[in-house]
Amino acid sequence: MYSVKRPSNFQVLLVLIITSVFIFFYHNSIFKTSQPYIPQARLRPYRSAASIKVSISHYTANYGFRTDSRSNIFNKNLQQICDIYDPEEYEYADSVIVSLVDFFRFPTISNSKQLYRKKYLSQLWVLQVEESPRNSYRTAQIKSVEELDDWFNLTATLKPESDFHIQYRGYRIKPEIVNLIEEKLNIKFDHAINSTSLPQSNLFTNGLSNYLNILAFVLDRELNDRQDAYSKICPYTCNQPLPPDIVKSLQPHLNPIFPRIMNRDIVYIAWFVSNCDSHSGREEYVLKLRSQPGILVDIYGGCSSMFHSHIINMKCKKGISGCVEKTLPNYRFYLSFENSKCDTYITEKYWMHGLNGEAIPIVMGAKIEQYERIAVPNSYIHVDNYPTIEKLAEELHRLNRNDSEYVKYLQWKQFYDIGESYSPQARYNMHSTLCFLGHYQRLHAMQGHNDQRKYLLERIREIFNVEKIRLPNFIWETAKTKLIRISEFYNPKVNCWDNDFPSLPRRIYNYLFTWWKLF
Ligand SMILES: *[C@@H]1O[C@H](CO)[C@@H](O)[C@H](O)[C@H]1NC(C)=O
Ligand SMILES: *[C@@H]1O[C@H](CO)[C@@H](O)[C@H](O)[C@H]1NC(C)=O
Ligand SMILES: *[C@@H]1O[C@H](CO)[C@@H](O)[C@H](O)[C@H]1NC(C)=O
Repeated sequence: MYSVKRPSNFQVLLVLIITSVFIFFYHNSIFKTSQPYIPQARLRPYRSAASIKVSISHYTANYGFRTDSRSNIFNKNLQQICDIYDPEEYEYADSVIVSLVDFFRFPTISNSKQLYRKKYLSQLWVLQVEESPRNSYRTAQIKSVEELDDWFNLTATLKPESDFHIQYRGYRIKPEIVNLIEEKLNIKFDHAINSTSLPQSNLFTNGLSNYLNILAFVLDRELNDRQDAYSKICPYTCNQPLPPDIVKSLQPHLNPIFPRIMNRDIVYIAWFVSNCDSHSGREEYVLKLRSQPGILVDIYGGCSSMFHSHIINMKCKKGISGCVEKTLPNYRFYLSFENSKCDTYITEKYWMHGLNGEAIPIVMGAKIEQYERIAVPNSYIHVDNYPTIEKLAEELHRLNRNDSEYVKYLQWKQFYDIGESYSPQARYNMHSTLCFLGHYQRLHAMQGHNDQRKYLLERIREIFNVEKIRLPNFIWETAKTKLIRISEFYNPKVNCWDNDFPSLPRRIYNYLFTWWKLF
């Protein structure tokens, strides 16, 4: 007979620690660095200087989707004057759209930046970022932000000051509300579009130049089409709230909303979360909120799977459609906590999950003023309005008990529609805008044909006016751009007020002690 030696407590502890650390690394995918996108050098065999098309290379893939010469980007009309090149052909394009992460991986540029930019001064470079400055800088591993200065001509980010304001969704005043206001309140709206038919141009009848003729034809059609489309999509305007006195006068003409009856003593809150290491410190906030009496926070998504996949159903992982919509009606509130606290960083967590008119989003991330500027009026509860978590919990209980108070946060549904087509970037589509800008620059630099050029320059500006497009960095008078200092425009030191990325020990601590307690 031999005795089985039992492991000592120390050995058990050691094994536990090693296993935990291993699980931590595994779940955080620290070993899986994402693969850089390396374009294959391929030369565009011809690029005639006389080409009438303005070309764009969209270097960065959008959520894994590549935009290239086979993508169907332009309508039949614009195909005559606009072209998309493959990402590999960026050197030959009139403008290039790129994200921060990809910019730092450019094979040729990263070695000799100055040389490249000097060689291709006329290229318009657009910085496109849909992440917060905090996360983009971390992912791109940027050492010196100043490296990005003096390179980009235009920006496409979540900041409304960008030339292209990226926003996941937008809102508009419902057409029936516009009618109601005109009929019942006798207020005449200044409609967005004056759909007068265009004056016919007789400037182009004598076959002057093929380029100018095609351009005139395409621009006239495009202006007509856009006026039509815009007056249908935004009958009054998009992303502008109704004045408060009109909202008040409308009340007697609207059907009241009744919230679903739920338990009055327990506040049901849902949280969908997939990034378990945030800068905003939302984990600690949720931990404290959860410990308040009568507050119940159910956690869905990637982080919950680390622990209790068998308790909370796993259906709500990222990218599974319809799941959030099915789940939310069981809750009174929804946590729309961003992973970073940066200027105007309001993402799909608010637009696509929280705003379904069923549960009220509780938001954390951008400042209150920025939600007031961008989000749907009275559609959310901002945590910064409450000095302590206890006070927030009190308010949630108050709303949970009083339907008429709760419903105030759902009333926006009577006035506004939420949709992808109302978001600013859906309307001033980056590709066609860049194409128009390219032609504008060419016309501006051309000699001769003065009347025709004047007419066409005016046409392009009219197209921009239809959708109330403002390009803060494009100077129409000179057809040049203002210098954009990215180190001021998109730098976490300037735009964010949360924590730097947590250190490794801190992340291990969070993983073992914060997340553990959340479940
Ligand atoms: C609409 O058209 C009329 C005449 O055609 C013009 O007087 C008016 O200024 C236009 N309004 C706007 C907002 O462009
Ligand atoms: C609910 O709030 C309203 C004010 O909006 C108040 O008049 C009413 O008494 C409250 N009801 C209850 C049950 O507290
Ligand atoms: C684009 O930016 C570069 C670098 O700042 C600049 O030299 C160039 O003039 C800009 N292009 C236009 C059209 O303004």
